[in-house]
Parts: sequence; structure tokens; C-alpha cells
Amino acid sequence: MGVTVVPGDMESVVTAAPATEGAVRTVTVTVPATSANLGPGFDTLGLALSLYDTLTVSSFADDRLDIDVAGNGSDAIPLDASNLVVRSIAHVFADVDRTMPGLHIFAENGVPHGRGLGSSGAAVTAGVLIAKGLLAGDVDLDDEALLRLATELEGHPDNVAPALFGGLTIAWTGERGPQHKKLLVHRGVAPLVFVPGFTMSTSLARSLQPPQVPREDAVFNVSRSALLVAALTQSPELLLDATADRLHQDYRGAAMPETLRLVQALRAEGFAAVVSGAGPSVLVLADGPGARQRAVEIADAVADTPWDAHMLAVDVRGGTVRDRAEGST
Ligand code: HSE
Repeated sequence: MGVTVVPGDMESVVTAAPATEGAVRTVTVTVPATSANLGPGFDTLGLALSLYDTLTVSSFADDRLDIDVAGNGSDAIPLDASNLVVRSIAHVFADVDRTMPGLHIFAENGVPHGRGLGSSGAAVTAGVLIAKGLLAGDVDLDDEALLRLATELEGHPDNVAPALFGGLTIAWTGERGPQHKKLLVHRGVAPLVFVPGFTMSTSLARSLQPPQVPREDAVFNVSRSALLVAALTQSPELLLDATADRLHQDYRGAAMPETLRLVQALRAEGFAAVVSGAGPSVLVLADGPGARQRAVEIADAVADTPWDAHMLAVDVRGGTVRDRAEGST
């Protein structure tokens, strides 16, 4: 039991990808982890964090599909056409009516899998950015198209928006499809993520929520999510009130009681702790390095399962794509 602080999360570790003789084009894509909901902002708010997946992808004139995966999820990720990155690339090529090329994919995954830190959103975002890079010069995919394509694959925009654009994002779906507004987070906000050894299925978590909620609970979340935008951008001292939620966390708690207990223990000590995405990780929005250390001590004292603690930064860039030949972003 207890908490292990994991060092060295600030940058992705990029090792040399295997040489790809005869490639038509090679692109490297880096995508951040994301934490969705942030308490009250269910399916709306998301935050990009400094843990990364990095993928180097070469296209070929034949129909090969070679996939190598290192890092998180490497023992479980499919290495065939059912791979989520491959399906996302194929979705974009079909959308713009182009023939899917042969691919060699080399993925180094720093985003924990199945832990509520946006691993599927990162895979989808990587796929659409790889397609953007491979299609550059032929098809121009703007930000709105990237968000639409990623949301079609992911089902909701709150992870893919910050994965694509970085920072704090508000995402919604309007008449023109999924849209986003990116905001920069107050520099006094210091994210800390506790990641357990067990996973949680997003579809199971979603199935635990009732189709309707009392009006007072809806009003509660409307007020807190409006306040949360102000707290994250201007007034971090409001974060504890602003991260309260009645729409999803308690309903889902039965499927991840250790997570709910840690959230409650940290909140009782004044920390703005929430379930990260659909769980089971816990996100703490602390107000500085000293506060993060204190949160780790509290978590260590109450932990009833092992947790890895990652002291992170807000990623402000979002996903990037670089063409190996041109060296451009
Ligand atoms: N908003 C989503 C949920 C995020 O909580 O179900 C998980 O992908």
C-alpha cells in the first residue's frame, strides 16, 4: 500500500525509431495525456498534462501494416488493423476520400492506459495528426476538422480537445459540430495525479449514471463548472468549491471505491481533488509544489491500494506533428 512518487514525467522520452527504407513519408507525432471533467465539467472541460505518447509513422506505396509499441499498454494494444491509431488514420483518409497507404508505426506510450488520463483520446488524436502530416500538401485539415474527426472516433470531445490544442479546453457540440475554446491556466495551479494499479472501463462508468438527475443537482454543477473556469484561469483559491460535482463521481464510486475514498480524504483536507475522467486515477489541482508534497503525504496515510503519484505541468502546446524530411511542425 502507499504512494510512490514517479520522477521524470516532464518530457516524453524519444528514442530513435527504426530506419524505414523506402518510405514515402515519415512523420513524428507527440500527444499529451488529458484529464476530462475536472469535477463538475462532465463531457465538457479538459486539461492537457505533461505525460506524452510519441509515434513515428512512415507511409509506403504498398499495403504493409507493421506496428511496434513500447511503454504503457504495450502488452495489450492490438498490432493489426483494429489498433485505434490505425482506425483513426483510416477514418481521416476515408473522410477526405484518399487511399490508405501502407504504414509502419513505432509508438512510445507515456500515457497510462485505462486510468482516466485520456489514453484512447491520445491514440485517436495521434491518428488524426498522423493523417494530417501524411496528407500535408494534398489535403489541408484545419483545427475544426481535426476536432470533428477525433470526436467522431472518441464519442465525446472533452479529452481530444485538450489533446489536440493543449491547456484548459471548454468543448461543446454546436450546429457546426464539435467546437472548443482554449484557455491558459493560472500559473499557480500545480497538477498532481495519483494512478492506481487497476483500470476502469469508460463504458462501464458511463452505464452507472442515471439518465436523469434532480434539477438541484443540475444547477449545482452548472454553478460549479462556471466557477471552475474562473478558478483555473484567475482565482485558484476557489478551486475546492469549484471542483465539487453531483453528476457522475458518486454514481460511479461503487465501481472504484478506493478512488472515491482518496478523493474524499484529500477534499476533507482542503485539496481540490477529483476523479480524473472516468477514473480510476485522481487529479489534484494544488496551489504549488509544497501543497503537492502535503497531498502526497495525506494520500500515503489513507491509501488502501498502491498509487503512483505524478507531479505534472499543464501542457500548453497540445499535439504536435513533425515531418521528418521537412523538419517542420
Ligand atoms: N467525460 C468522459 C466521462 C471522459 O467521464 O465519461 C472519459 O473518457
